[in-house]
Amino acid sequence: MTFGFETLAIHAGQEPDPRTGAVVPPIVQASTYAQDAVGAPRLGYEYSRTANPTRDALQECLAALEGGRRGLAFASGMAAEDTLLRALCGPGDHVVIPDDAYGGTFRLFAKVAERWGLAWTAARLSDVDAVRRAVRTATKIIWVETPTNPLLGIADLGALAGVAHDAGALLVVDNTFASPYLQQPLAHGADIVVHSTTKYVGGHSDVVGGALIVNDDGIAQLLSYHQNALGGISGPFDAWLTLRGIRTLAVRMDRHCDNAERVVEFLTRHRRVSQVLYPGLPDHPGHEVATKQMRRYGGMVSFRLVGGELEAIDVCNRAKLWVLGESLGGVESLIEHPGRMTHASAAGSPLEVPADLVRLSVGIETVDDLLADLEQAMA
Ligand SMILES: Cc1ncc(COP(=O)(O)O)c(C=O)c1O
Repeated sequence: MTFGFETLAIHAGQEPDPRTGAVVPPIVQASTYAQDAVGAPRLGYEYSRTANPTRDALQECLAALEGGRRGLAFASGMAAEDTLLRALCGPGDHVVIPDDAYGGTFRLFAKVAERWGLAWTAARLSDVDAVRRAVRTATKIIWVETPTNPLLGIADLGALAGVAHDAGALLVVDNTFASPYLQQPLAHGADIVVHSTTKYVGGHSDVVGGALIVNDDGIAQLLSYHQNALGGISGPFDAWLTLRGIRTLAVRMDRHCDNAERVVEFLTRHRRVSQVLYPGLPDHPGHEVATKQMRRYGGMVSFRLVGGELEAIDVCNRAKLWVLGESLGGVESLIEHPGRMTHASAAGSPLEVPADLVRLSVGIETVDDLLADLEQAMA
């Protein structure tokens, strides 16, 4: 029997505890496990860096939600990304990255991995030919974000999977912005899905985490080996909190989308706004592709101000209900200035973002309250 997304979010990896019947998987806050005999660990558990029942529950649920065979949970999205790179790339290899990737991902490639001999080229992912031109014989990975952060560009997953596989490379998709409820990259040909579960998957701004999800057993084994060897794992309590957030992912995402659509409607009519970036808008260049590969268009909205950088900063500072802060995907609405905050590390690089840009993570509060606060911040 195959189950729907909401059922999997609540039940996958979360059978009632066999000993007590507890309907919520227990937090197994243990580093080590008693073994029945030398070489016979009970249920395979011997040390919690290698495996832990609470992390296993989360990993199984993540795999089910992405339609993958194997999920791996990490201490943060960056720990997941680092493990992926070290497992699959080496000196002399090359990766293609988005020209508006998350700033921390860009920093990992440009400031850390490059020093270890991994070359990279930034390409506009909405332009399939540009990505094809960026590929070299040494290319191991095409790294995709869609929607992108913070410009909300859309990449065609099926087309890019073709480009990657023709070149003998892997397609890696950071699905943080969409969440598995809105988009399942493996079904479109991706080889690995990355998440900062800190965002929509956890959903409550109370835990930092990351994940990798794959279908291929060989890649799964390599990643799992490196998860243990490098040790950037999700701790039991973090895994439990993330799993608790996951159970309501579907209903949260629908409300994030409902509210974002209302915010977009407000912004498109506002005289101080020069451009609204949202893939749900029919005139967004990626609208058609987004419609093809996403269930809805998400809770992230970016917009540009007629008055430039100072006006953008002013709007961020004047917002009250919208919390001025980094991160995204929590139940509370956040506002930020990417140029000076999340993407400051990309200044002067090909990934620099426009200075007049404001990014919104639209939460699930009463939408009229969100609109009223934006109205006063932009008055
Ligand atoms: C799209 C995206 N990928 C990866 C990350 C990194 O995840 P973390 O902050 O959990 O390490 C972030 C964080 O903001 C992100 O927005």
